[in-house]
Amino acid sequence: ILLNINMLKGFVLLSTFPSSTFTRLLTETDGWKKRWVESKHQLDYGKFQLTAGKFYSDKEKDKGLQTGKDAKFYALSTRFKPFSNENETLVVQFSVKHEQGIDCGGGHVKLFPATLNQEDMHSESEYYIMFGPDICGFGNNKVQVILHYQGKYYENNKTIKCKINKDSHLYTLIIRPNATYEVKIDNKKVAAGGLEEDWDFLPPRKIKDPYAWKPRKWDERLQIEDPEDKKPEDWEDFEYIPDPEAKKPADWDEAMDGEWERPLIPNPKYKGQWKPRIIDNPNYQGEWIHPEIDNPEYKPDPTICRYYNISVLGLELWQVKSGSIFDNVLLTNDEESAEKVGNETWGTRKDLEKQWRERYEEIEKRKQEEEAKKKKEKEEEEKDDIWGLEEEGNEEDPAEESGNDRQMQEDDAD
Ligand SMILES: *[C@@H]1O[C@H](CO)[C@@H](O)[C@H](O)[C@H]1NC(C)=O
Ligand SMILES: *[C@@H]1O[C@H](CO)[C@@H](O)[C@H](O)[C@H]1NC(C)=O
Ligand SMILES: *[C@@H]1O[C@H](CO)[C@@H](O)[C@H](O)[C@H]1NC(C)=O
Ligand SMILES: *[C@@H]1O[C@H](CO)[C@@H](O)[C@H](O)[C@H]1NC(C)=O
Ligand SMILES: *[C@@H]1O[C@H](CO)[C@@H](O)[C@H](O)[C@H]1NC(C)=O
Repeated sequence: ILLNINMLKGFVLLSTFPSSTFTRLLTETDGWKKRWVESKHQLDYGKFQLTAGKFYSDKEKDKGLQTGKDAKFYALSTRFKPFSNENETLVVQFSVKHEQGIDCGGGHVKLFPATLNQEDMHSESEYYIMFGPDICGFGNNKVQVILHYQGKYYENNKTIKCKINKDSHLYTLIIRPNATYEVKIDNKKVAAGGLEEDWDFLPPRKIKDPYAWKPRKWDERLQIEDPEDKKPEDWEDFEYIPDPEAKKPADWDEAMDGEWERPLIPNPKYKGQWKPRIIDNPNYQGEWIHPEIDNPEYKPDPTICRYYNISVLGLELWQVKSGSIFDNVLLTNDEESAEKVGNETWGTRKDLEKQWRERYEEIEKRKQEEEAKKKKEKEEEEKDDIWGLEEEGNEEDPAEESGNDRQMQEDDAD
């Protein structure tokens, strides 16, 4: 199935797997709620809302599913005709905009087998693939690529940094039938390689030969003390010497005071302790490398990441500060068309969205400054009013609160 779950138009089935043609079979303009199922596993899941958010390039086209409430779990999913990626490339792609300025939370999607009960979907429900950004705290911002294999989950070993700014970003995972993969952010490759190498699905191909030891005489010393070097005859290595100018006191009584000794003074000719010079070791053999042998435990498995009855895409995540908007979800077997769709959706709108974001932030800043100014003025007034002749309501004017951001922006832009 070549499938595009466009949040705005709902669930758009594009073509039948494995055809790579890009024909739209079904479009619907609304009713996304009919195609997405909220889990009832927990009573207090957060709700998604369909919105383009605070800033966007196109109010209609940029509508996506946004997490609506802080500090909530979310569990929403959509079902499609089951398909398998056997002998086929699988591309999972979506865009996400953390316009709230995400502090801690998931920005990923999950793919589930057909057996999933959507009404009971939860964090422990078995899935095939979890893909997308996962952010929590400073420096902990990575792209998770967790893949299911024989009853276990495997995390990607290569750390991939995700984007943490407020703009929309496009995330793409490609899994190919030749067991290679690629992760792209904003249609640019950020990681690629072999599934076997970057996930620990299988025991390593090679292991250190358990019967090989480093020879006892193996010389790993890069430099040595020169055995030819000798201490010069006149090398002074006494730090202190008896003072040659000291004189025995006239009243020294050997019987009483013991034998007189010259007091010690620092040796003016002291050269420090002698050390032979350091030379490159002529017998240096290099670092000993433990020879490797084929791991008898290793058996190649062409079924890695081969999934059957892939049938549900879910937004199953936790967010502290909510507001992430998921959009432009695409499942396909065609890498190039995925890139093209990415270009045509996220790609054509990102610049304008960024402009609006900057504009929005400017307005927000100005608003805050004005509020701070007002507050200060009010405080001044209250100070003047110190005798409390007039009662002043502290409530904010509710009309001020309900200003429409976009309206404000548009007025400003005008
Ligand atoms: C995948 O390829 C293998 C080997 O060519 C073949 O035996 C198998 O039938 C193919 N599976 C599908 C679903 O096409
Ligand atoms: C992957 O990471 C795990 C845990 O950190 C480590 O044990 C393993 O050796 C790594 N595997 C590869 C192939 O780098
Ligand atoms: C795997 O397939 C991709 C796309 O068909 C190709 O570019 C790549 O060279 C292949 N890699 C290996 C290791 O076969
Ligand atoms: C896929 O689902 C169908 C229908 O439920 C089932 O008959 C089939 O065994 C499943 N295939 C796999 C590989 O699980
Ligand atoms: C997507 O856009 C980039 C940048 O404009 C371009 O280099 C690339 O060829 C496009 N890809 C496709 C498949 O159209």
